Amino acid sequence: MANMSQQDYKSITRYVFDICGIVLGDDKQYLVEQRLSPVLPDLGCASFQDLADKLNLGGINFLVREKILNAMTTNETSFFRDEHPYVAFREKIMPDMLDRAKERKERSWARRGAKVSMWSVAASTGQEPYSMAMIIADVVNMRGMGLVFMEDFGILGTDISSKVLSKAIEGKYGPLEVARGLTQDMRNKHFVKDGDFYVINDKIRKIVDFKSFNIQDPFTQIGSFDVIFCRNILIYFSDDAKRKILSQFYQILAPSGYLLLGSAENMYNLNNDFTTERYGATTIYRKLG
Ligand SMILES: C[S@@+](CC[C@H](N)C(=O)[O-])C[C@H]1O[C@@H](n2cnc3c(N)ncnc32)[C@H](O)[C@@H]1O
Repeated sequence: MANMSQQDYKSITRYVFDICGIVLGDDKQYLVEQRLSPVLPDLGCASFQDLADKLNLGGINFLVREKILNAMTTNETSFFRDEHPYVAFREKIMPDMLDRAKERKERSWARRGAKVSMWSVAASTGQEPYSMAMIIADVVNMRGMGLVFMEDFGILGTDISSKVLSKAIEGKYGPLEVARGLTQDMRNKHFVKDGDFYVINDKIRKIVDFKSFNIQDPFTQIGSFDVIFCRNILIYFSDDAKRKILSQFYQILAPSGYLLLGSAENMYNLNNDFTTERYGATTIYRKLG
């Protein structure tokens, strides 16, 4: 593995911070070396010093930026990760969403398209938005009563990494990935088998859209949502960045909307706008003000 000087480390971590907001402290040098070493030749660099010089010069092209982003983002995810937020989603949030969908359909019956919108902010390889969609399918099937349908719901999955987004769009998972979080019954219901792989079925896929989005950018074009899942991403950012992101979530949430964070994340000292509710082990943040 190539070696990196303190100076090079500073240049590289400053660049990573500038493009995606990820804060890499002094203790992360080994991680950065480990992740970037294999891509140095792809970046056209013989050493970390070469890379640091290139970054310091500026004018980094899109492909180099993408390669650094893909290498430096942590994309760990799984279906129904941590389980309890999905219990809260199914039992507490979805009944409210069914009511909203019904109400909005009655009010504007001629308008086509999703009546309830949800956002999986750091969707990674897609397990999070697809888990949400599987719950929507189950709840609609059991309680839709012929009044609410899958297509009344829309989920937007976003991520900054092009590599994970293309896998999310493909919706194809290996045996180890489906073994993490999915029961046999869910696999049978929501996937189509392709050799050893499992492909998300059309019913689930058709309500999930993916697009590239850097959460450090302004949210002006992103839309308005009833539910936001922003799990296991804020931990990588500075407090200032977290404050900015949380206040924008508040602005774009529909009245009485819901926000769920990761298990190691909270709003302490960051935002006072949201009302908190507990459901089992899950803290639900709501826009009730
Ligand atoms: C650890 S994964 C979390 C996946 C999923 N939310 C979960 O909890 O299982 C974090 C994701 O955040 C994405 N990410 C990092 N910085 C980002 C940014 N500035 N904007 C959007 N996504 C970002 C990474 O590419 C990665 O896929």
